[in-house]
Amino acid sequence: MPFMLTVPRTHVRIQILRERGGEKTTQVHNNSFLLIRLETTCTDRGVDARNRDTTMSASVTNDYDVLIIGSGVSGIDAAYYMNEHCPSHTYAILERRASLGGTWDFFKYPGIRSDSDMYTFGFSWKIWKSAKPIAPAEDILQYLDEAAREQGILKRIQFNIDIRRAEWSSLTQRWKLTTATGQIYSCKMLFGCTGYYSYEKPHRPHFRGEENFKGLIVHPQDWKKEHNSQVAKKHVAVIGSGATAVTLIPNLAQTASHVTMVQRSPTYILARPEEDAMTQTINNWLPEYFAVQLNRWRHIIMQRLMFEYCTRYPEGAKKTILSGMYKQLKGAMSQDEFDKHFTPKYNPWEQRLCLSPGGDFFKVFRENKGSIVTGSVKQFTSDGILMEDGDVVQADVIISATGLNMQHNFPFSTMDVVIDGEKYVPSAKFVYKGVMLSDVPNFAFIVGYTNASWTLKADIASLFFTKLVNYMAKNNKGIVCPRVPTGVKPSDGDIWSLKSGYVLRAGAHMPKQGNQEPWIQYHNYFVDATKLWFGGIEDASLEFGPCIMNKGLSSRL
Ligand SMILES: Cc1cc2nc3c(=O)[nH]c(=O)nc-3n(C[C@H](O)[C@H](O)[C@H](O)COP(=O)(O)OP(=O)(O)OC[C@H]3O[C@@H](n4cnc5c(N)ncnc54)[C@H](O)[C@@H]3O)c2cc1C
Ligand SMILES: NC(=O)c1ccc[n+]([C@@H]2O[C@H](COP(=O)([O-])OP(=O)(O)OC[C@H]3O[C@@H](n4cnc5c(N)ncnc54)[C@H](OP(=O)(O)O)[C@@H]3O)[C@@H](O)[C@H]2O)c1
Repeated sequence: MPFMLTVPRTHVRIQILRERGGEKTTQVHNNSFLLIRLETTCTDRGVDARNRDTTMSASVTNDYDVLIIGSGVSGIDAAYYMNEHCPSHTYAILERRASLGGTWDFFKYPGIRSDSDMYTFGFSWKIWKSAKPIAPAEDILQYLDEAAREQGILKRIQFNIDIRRAEWSSLTQRWKLTTATGQIYSCKMLFGCTGYYSYEKPHRPHFRGEENFKGLIVHPQDWKKEHNSQVAKKHVAVIGSGATAVTLIPNLAQTASHVTMVQRSPTYILARPEEDAMTQTINNWLPEYFAVQLNRWRHIIMQRLMFEYCTRYPEGAKKTILSGMYKQLKGAMSQDEFDKHFTPKYNPWEQRLCLSPGGDFFKVFRENKGSIVTGSVKQFTSDGILMEDGDVVQADVIISATGLNMQHNFPFSTMDVVIDGEKYVPSAKFVYKGVMLSDVPNFAFIVGYTNASWTLKADIASLFFTKLVNYMAKNNKGIVCPRVPTGVKPSDGDIWSLKSGYVLRAGAHMPKQGNQEPWIQYHNYFVDATKLWFGGIEDASLEFGPCIMNKGLSSRL
């Protein structure tokens, strides 16, 4: 094979790292790579895989073409697309927990459920059929488990594998992963499906006087089974007005003596019927295949129209939502009280909209099982909360529904990441098409929509990833890396398109989006589908390097 040279940028500084046999590999220090190869046999993916499998098996048993980290909604979706589109590539899913489901297995607080309709939150390849659009966590878990079994994905998941370190080497063209117990895995392409928030540390602000409070203080992320009985027949105060508080309050109200929502600021809350009549009609009248497709697309389109309405006509949307909320309360409070407790400071969709299935949240106040206090917490006392304005909230239990923390090393969750010897710093990266990161080779990740169902994006990101894997195999490429061209500037908006507390707190530590294509993070299924689903792989911002021979790889890992 003739001498091959890839020089992706001009002005590179070259440092020879190793020379062995007939092969020299050099690396550059401006985060770009350069490979000089004198010999290679890597021309066809099938041959490549067979060669590697035999040479690797002697000393590295955990080497794969693709490793997926995480077995939540995203990891399962990614595996489905690997099965469908990359059947000859070896892959595994590494999951640090003992079971699949991620979010839906992790949170245990009363009432935990989806707030997206399940027709769009469910997979495009296993469409949710029930007429109930909102599902509790146990139904979602069962659905995910069923999906993983049906598609042969379950057997691909390796549980209790906690990846602590990920190192990319342009020399070996491999990611090397180290687990908490020191096991080593390696792969050509890494697919991060680790979600977005920290499982380790929720956002739990310290309140003055906490130590004097005689009762239980618990954050929903730390909720255990035994807490269920500890709230029964008690006065419970819930601090917060996000989706967690809105979900918890109606469920707590069923057993608690009284629930008080202690909110710093109000939230938009949409009441939705528990059963979707139109879905039911469609299910009754059309053959199943057409019915489920129609229901899914109806919801995708309705969701988008609602978002467009809210962002283009915020005043009208505000009025419509507030009047719906007022009606739900059916005279449970005066207009003045309503204005104080239910008028958010922001426009709809600047922060996430909360959902209340069957109006369950409003029912709590209609039936006088709960009350709301709006203002700042001054301090905790021995038997409750003292507000800045002097209001007193009596409580035996305080639930701090104060939110999440984002991953500190997004989207690598808890992993320490090193790329060709350099520590990965998320804020120094730009997001490429919402699925890859600048200067991070052979890596893609899934982060879903914040203004629509997460899974819609997981689907198209997974499809893009498998197209990329196949393109590289077909074209004998060993490295792919997005590079930001000069002229691209960070855009004003963050990659989440939200102003919620957890997004603002994480802002400085997150990868950025750019001010031009393909560095813009869209939260729009239709735009992303056009680019990721129907678009090609080749792109001026995507740099490829030739595949190196795999011989001797294990000794270099
Ligand atoms: C309470 C709650 C409700 C939500 N409801 C909705 C909703 O209704 N609709 C919606 O669209 N979105 C919702 N979201 C957002 C939600 O997180 C996503 O929809 C979706 O479930 C995320 O799936 P995921 O697989 O990407 O991430 P996760 O569910 O977070 O799964 C990530 C997996 O990766 C594993 N992992 C992470 N790091 C490592 C590591 N180092 N080594 C090994 N394994 C690792 C984790 O253990 C976990 O199993 C909700 C979020 C929360 C917190
Ligand atoms: N499917 C579901 O139904 C569901 C359920 C739970 C969570 N989720 C998702 O999970 C994410 C987090 O939701 P979340 O409700 O846990 O968190 P959140 O949306 O960040 O809400 C946190 C709440 O805590 C309040 N808060 C924070 N610090 C406070 C302090 N020091 N004093 C008083 N109040 C304080 C915030 O008040 P301010 O608003 O005034 O800052 C806010 O009301 C979101 O993405 C959400 O969509 C979804």
